[in-house]
Amino acid sequence: MIQTVAWVTSLIFILIIAAVFVWVFLNSSKKEDYTKVVRKWYKTRKVYGIIVVLLMLVVTIYTLRELPYNEPVYKEGTDVYEVDVEAIQFGWNISETEFKVGDSVEFNVTTPDVTHGFGIYDEDMELIAQTQAMPEYTNTVYMTFDDPGTYTILCLEYCGLGHHLMTAEITVQ
Ligand code: CUA
Repeated sequence: MIQTVAWVTSLIFILIIAAVFVWVFLNSSKKEDYTKVVRKWYKTRKVYGIIVVLLMLVVTIYTLRELPYNEPVYKEGTDVYEVDVEAIQFGWNISETEFKVGDSVEFNVTTPDVTHGFGIYDEDMELIAQTQAMPEYTNTVYMTFDDPGTYTILCLEYCGLGHHLMTAEITVQ
């Protein structure tokens, strides 16, 4: 059903675009004085240009600020654990996998071989945090475990024949 709607919609848009092309083609030999139009549009373009740039600047700053990549500010008294994560073909070396509820953990993720994906899933198998494991580079994921349970680590990037074997568990009590 949805495919039919998408197909018909695309067809309509294709026809509209084709009609515009035909119209332009049929009118292309006509000569008209367009200095008036040019002047008007140059002015409009300048105004819209400035508005768009300003808008993009504001939106960019605002949305980048909201990205969750910054180092978090921890509440006083929070235990912060630094955990080394090494992704290897095909498995995980994780320096610490048992935590308490409320623990804040900084996973420093890297790999000696190829690029992997480090994904943390909760018990409903919903992805709650992830980063790339890159050779010669360390990415850090900041996590606070608010709920007890068993969290699953899966590789999020196809990395070879044993990709599906790259699982691990983290327990929070
Ligand atoms: Cu490692 Cu897929």
